[in-house]
Amino acid sequence: MFAIDKIINKYRKDREGLIALLQDISTEYRYLSEEALKRVSEEMEVPLSKLFSLATFYKSFRLTPRGEHEIQVCMGTACHVRGAPRMLENVTQKLNIKPGDTTEDGKYTVETVNCLGTCALGPLLVYDGKYFGKLNRRKIEKLLEGSNDEVE
Ligand code: FES
Repeated sequence: MFAIDKIINKYRKDREGLIALLQDISTEYRYLSEEALKRVSEEMEVPLSKLFSLATFYKSFRLTPRGEHEIQVCMGTACHVRGAPRMLENVTQKLNIKPGDTTEDGKYTVETVNCLGTCALGPLLVYDGKYFGKLNRRKIEKLLEGSNDEVE
């Protein structure tokens, strides 16, 4: 049985649990695909339009595939003046994608975020939830090569 079937079965008798159901699918697949939403719509007898509005209303849901690793580059004012645009360029050039995109091999998703509240560490990048501050090109290269310990 596919993971999605198990999840749907778990919530089959609980219409109130639609958001939890979507959360479980999102955790399992790292995003909500159109195919998954259609499946939920059919199985739970809920209009697809309702599922799309829930999926777009809650910021934690994504409708596009996420990479295995998530990178957020802070573009808040303090990080911006400390060179965040150049750092973002370094990251996107190295991965050959645009902000908001996922690499073709599904390894990385890069996006920009606003101030993360640790401005003194700027320019700042978050890699799989871990903060890496005072970035420069060398640190970014090491990070993307997997030498995470050296740049924290
Ligand atoms: S502006 Fe980047 S952490 Fe505040």
